[in-house]
Amino acid sequence: MKQPLTAMALALAAALPAAAQPGVEVLHWWTAGGEAAALGLLKSNLEKQGIRWNDMPVAGGGGEAAMTAVRARVTSGNPPTAVQMLGFDILDWGRQGVVANLDDLAAREGWDKSVPAQVQKFSRHQGHWIAAPVNIHSTNWIWANRQVLERAGVAGEPASFDEFIAAAEKVRQAGFVAIAHGGQPWQEAIVFDSVALSTGGAGYYRRAFIEHDPQAIRSPTTRKVFQRMAQIRQLVDKDFSGRDWNVASGMVISGQAGFQIMGDWAKGEFLNAGKRPGQDFACYRFPGTQGMVSFSTDQFVMFRLEDAGKAAAQRKLASAIMEPGFQAAFNRVKGSAPARTDVPDTGFDDCGKKAIRDVAEAAGGNGMLGSIALGHATSASVKNAIYDVVTRHFNGQLDDARAVAELAAALAD
Ligand code: GAL
Repeated sequence: MKQPLTAMALALAAALPAAAQPGVEVLHWWTAGGEAAALGLLKSNLEKQGIRWNDMPVAGGGGEAAMTAVRARVTSGNPPTAVQMLGFDILDWGRQGVVANLDDLAAREGWDKSVPAQVQKFSRHQGHWIAAPVNIHSTNWIWANRQVLERAGVAGEPASFDEFIAAAEKVRQAGFVAIAHGGQPWQEAIVFDSVALSTGGAGYYRRAFIEHDPQAIRSPTTRKVFQRMAQIRQLVDKDFSGRDWNVASGMVISGQAGFQIMGDWAKGEFLNAGKRPGQDFACYRFPGTQGMVSFSTDQFVMFRLEDAGKAAAQRKLASAIMEPGFQAAFNRVKGSAPARTDVPDTGFDDCGKKAIRDVAEAAGGNGMLGSIALGHATSASVKNAIYDVVTRHFNGQLDDARAVAELAAALAD
């Protein structure tokens, strides 16, 4: 791991007139309305500092396409200034020896005091900071259209999985799509995060999907998880296959559907559509996962840049990402909790306040678990193997017993 650029080189570069200062090129997959609105705050912060923003969006929720694009750029010896990344993908790049060392910036700005240890696990390689975490998303949420639920005669928050299924069936009987879903492997895995956490609890989830304990994976609990996935499959509409997550969110926003099981980036879509929590929509934890969060943190990995001017601009980007005021403004729009625990919930709506409260509670106990779906539970290769089993089961190509057996094979180290 190379040491940070010398202070003199950085000072000289930062002293350049704004027009001469190099910009930052940022590769990301935030192309939906709410995502773009949040990212726009970072872009304007940098431009106010005289740093040009060269946007490099690679569409595709969950980031699979973006990861393919960044491999091509780095292989060609021309990495972007920063890349949005998740979990184990960051650690994979940390091992390649091509990322920058942000230790001096992190020390000066106290990142290790404000970022939860569960998140730092993915921000640091061999103890060195290589990424700037911007948020803490969680996937175990249900988003509901309040007017649809009223018309379907569904009152209150379902207290159990079976109550949720009963509520969804009432919504369908009332003539609405019960559960709006996007038929893509990563989205099926988002549902799986919640069903696994709800069915087996934190201990089962950790043993099976983080520790790969064969006994936990082959337990009757896993069989029940797949049985429940099949129940949810019966409640999505016939056109779910291939649908993007934000289009599914739009079905709930417009009143075509009653529910969506999705991470809290979905809230960004509701806010971007002018919807208000508590009036137009409700947010609640997937039943049975209260006190727990299946989390995913968006981080910007900084690749090592030889050009002192570009490196100076890169550090301004990292600093802007970690600035508490930005973390508050960004996460209010994005739907996530800040990555820093020293950011108050002032100005966050009720769903945002709950996100922050739930993360603080989970991080302080044993309830903060890495999302399987978003690469925070296990390596990229095992994650993709889980995607394959879960999506084939969801599409009826595997029965429950076969799915358990194939999952055990996928998780066998
Ligand atoms: C996740 C990302 C979120 C949101 C979501 C849908 O991977 O962490 O910020 O963008 O994809 O694209």
